[in-house]
Amino acid sequence: MTALSPAYPAVPADALAIRLETPADDDWIENLHEVSFGPGRFARAAFRVRERFPIDPSLCFIAELDGVRAASVRLTPISVGGIDGYLLGPLMTDPAFRKQGAGRALVRHACDLALGREGAGFVLLVGDLAYYGPLGFIPTVPHAIRFPAPVDPARVLVHSLDENMATTLAGDIGRFGKG
Ligand SMILES: CC(C)(COP(=O)(O)OP(=O)(O)OC[C@H]1O[C@@H](n2cnc3c(N)ncnc32)[C@H](O)[C@@H]1OP(=O)(O)O)[C@@H](O)C(=O)NCCC(=O)NCCS
Repeated sequence: MTALSPAYPAVPADALAIRLETPADDDWIENLHEVSFGPGRFARAAFRVRERFPIDPSLCFIAELDGVRAASVRLTPISVGGIDGYLLGPLMTDPAFRKQGAGRALVRHACDLALGREGAGFVLLVGDLAYYGPLGFIPTVPHAIRFPAPVDPARVLVHSLDENMATTLAGDIGRFGKG
């Protein structure tokens, strides 16, 4: 795996495994979604984006700890102002497995693969800078990226190999490849 994100303490390699999500994970992921975000989950800005554009199954991963499903992340191809990239989320770890590094391992893995994809300029998300900052995400210009639902501008973060991306990315969220 290419290391694009800043170094972060690793979990023991024998405990953590990352694999592609399969249809057999759907019910588990939906349950975890409800546990993680509650009834308000369908109104979240990132959910509204995912309603309009399909996830990329080749960029949806499950982290297992000692062979047991622990965490999930999904990426959705999008464009912003004509630049193609991905929306990351939801990222969720089963409460029984939190603080063991599964979440950040999934973010690193998904970002490294996504930013290696042809034409992909960024990974965007709505989340806490305290968590995602050490994983390479920085704030975007407040209100520059227009979501289909209200969003706290301070939580709109981007990760890119282009150091100007955070200050220049702007516009409506559209379909990947159609910008
Ligand atoms: C956020 C979440 C995915 C982290 O999963 P995880 O597997 O426990 O994450 P990691 O083990 O990689 O990292 C845990 C560390 O991040 C910290 N952390 C977790 N959420 C945080 C947040 N919102 N802000 C800052 N730090 C956070 C933990 O306190 C822990 O710190 P420590 O290592 O000093 O003990 C998990 O708490 C979760 O599913 N939360 C509910 C859903 C959610 O909020 N998802 C993110 C949406 S943006």
